[in-house]
Amino acid sequence: MNKEKAKKRIEQLRSDLEKHNYNYYVLNKPIISDFEYDVMLNDLAHLEKLFPEFQSSSSPTQKVGSDITAEFKQVTHKYPMLSLGNTYNPEELREFDNRIKKIIGENFEYVCELKYDGTSISLIYSDGKLQRAITRGDGEKGDDVTLNVRTIKTIPYYLKGSDFPKEFEIRGEIFFNKADFEKINKERKLNNEALLANPRNAAAGTLKLLDSSAVAKRPLDCFLYYILGENTFSDSHYKNLTKARDWGFQIPEHITRCANIEKVLEFIEYWTNERKNLPFEIDGIVIKVDSLKQQKQLGFTAKSPRWAISYKFKAEQALTKLLSIDFQVGRTGAITPVANLEPVFLAGTTVKRASLHNADQIELHDIRIGDYVFVEKGGEIIPKIVGVEVTKRESVSSPLKFIENCPECNSLLIRNEGEAQHYCPNEFSCPPQIKGKIEHFVSRKAMNIAGAEATIELLYTNKIISDIGDLYNLDKTQLINLERFGEKSADNLLLSIEQSKNTSFEKVIYALGIRFVGETVAKKIANNIENIDALINSTFDELISIDEVGDKIAQSIIEHFKNENNIRIIQKLKDAGVNLKRDENTSQKKSDKLSGLSFVISGVFEKHSRDELKQMIEENGGKNVGSISAKTNYVLAGENMGPAKLEKAQKLKVKIIFENEFLEMIL
Ligand code: IVH
Repeated sequence: MNKEKAKKRIEQLRSDLEKHNYNYYVLNKPIISDFEYDVMLNDLAHLEKLFPEFQSSSSPTQKVGSDITAEFKQVTHKYPMLSLGNTYNPEELREFDNRIKKIIGENFEYVCELKYDGTSISLIYSDGKLQRAITRGDGEKGDDVTLNVRTIKTIPYYLKGSDFPKEFEIRGEIFFNKADFEKINKERKLNNEALLANPRNAAAGTLKLLDSSAVAKRPLDCFLYYILGENTFSDSHYKNLTKARDWGFQIPEHITRCANIEKVLEFIEYWTNERKNLPFEIDGIVIKVDSLKQQKQLGFTAKSPRWAISYKFKAEQALTKLLSIDFQVGRTGAITPVANLEPVFLAGTTVKRASLHNADQIELHDIRIGDYVFVEKGGEIIPKIVGVEVTKRESVSSPLKFIENCPECNSLLIRNEGEAQHYCPNEFSCPPQIKGKIEHFVSRKAMNIAGAEATIELLYTNKIISDIGDLYNLDKTQLINLERFGEKSADNLLLSIEQSKNTSFEKVIYALGIRFVGETVAKKIANNIENIDALINSTFDELISIDEVGDKIAQSIIEHFKNENNIRIIQKLKDAGVNLKRDENTSQKKSDKLSGLSFVISGVFEKHSRDELKQMIEENGGKNVGSISAKTNYVLAGENMGPAKLEKAQKLKVKIIFENEFLEMIL
């Protein structure tokens, strides 16, 4: 590969990996498997080695991904939380063994542990009491989730005994048991809530819930695997860990000392098969040098210790025949190709359908009807097709053509530039889109109209409703004339619809089903915008001043309200008396001290979150705007303010103030 090509490839890999880090650590929704991620990371490391002139300290090969979220206080780790090097085969493990032998000789032992598939946590104890619990974050700083961690029954708040070090840190993995995870998803299904993809994402998401009482309701669990501190009990990692059992920590019984790499490989082989019988998920084995002195001698690279490595299991795959493809139309009109497969057993369940995501995926793998395809259960609920066994392809087959017309309403599909998904643009007369929008509107997280979801099909096919606004014009006679509808269920539905009129503004915004406006964004909008008319009339600039609202979301909101049909629907909601304004208590006008002044907020702040600061600006009569212009009065700057913003503010001579100065302005 020539230099120019290598540079391009390195840049592409870095940007893709950053995106995958964000999906994994922040959104808890990975879209590729760990294996695919590691292959990309290895490619990048290899290229950086071949072309050292392109090495950079900000490359994903040099840092760990970040799970930091704005809502929690950030704390700097006393000892950085590093990740582990990965291998997928015994040869690489032997190379690891040889590297160690070169540095410390032959006289050492390994400890093998299971690699628990959850989310890492650092617990700080002093005088036998839990002081703090911090997530890994970006490895340097993490989120303080102490209150949530205190709800986990298997993490001791006070330690037992008296022979623990005065101050120490212990690290481990927070996770859900397979059975508990399944129970949660069963309940979510009953409540018509979106299913959680896997125990790992569920654990990471739960740990970041803002309401600790909601965390307490979920049976999170924790295994500990690493003790740090000045005066640990022994020089042996194994002895330290097993000793920590006496203090009340949960240290799994599977940890094993191995005299050499052959024994390590035996341990791996045993668990490769046995892992399916464990009550919790593991995604590999962690191998560590036992002696702390030897660990010190081996030291660390920028990202991981040289004295430990993880052996990752590949996701299980199955080979089966692709029978046909269905094209499903979602509530936003997005078309998802779904494969119908010859049933095949994979990791505990029979798989009959698999997601194909979009046209790009089909083209990338050149997937054809009749092909034998590899199916894998990755991080998602629905298995996916990861490749084709081309040698088994029938002699006559042709590349799959993506449909051009909507399978439901026959409209010509569109595909916006830069987007992978095809859409049906017939928003207001394509049946699954209409029904999907109403179903979304009544769902639990939106207007929470109990019993409505199961009735929508019936109401729609009987032409009683054709949009969300019509729900508020239903009458009892219409309902009891319907098949299977009794007086009692009609009363219940009408009552629930009536009660939904008092739903909070943020949920109503979410319920409207504006493309790209999920729950979090809806909440942020409701924190910043007073009522529906203000939202309808918001400019692009006002919208992007709201945290989490970027260009794409702002544009989508503007498009949504440009459409007369949507305005008509809003009018129906207004006429029915649905709450379309922010709760007065959430933002009361406190003063006019900032009247006529506009602010751009940038960076991270010490005393308040960005949302709080924005609210203070509004409460005191000021205005938040998204980008700096000559008309902006102040840039409120925190830590890590982007250099481009700083330069622009200086160029346009906009005054830059810091948090304390701002707080003084509204005193
Ligand atoms: S030791 C410096 N041991 O795997 C060594 N990690 O990339 C620190 N993990 O997110 C890690 N089980 O949370 C270690 N038995 C185990 C583990 C384990 C799971 C996770 C850890 C981290 C990742 C390492």
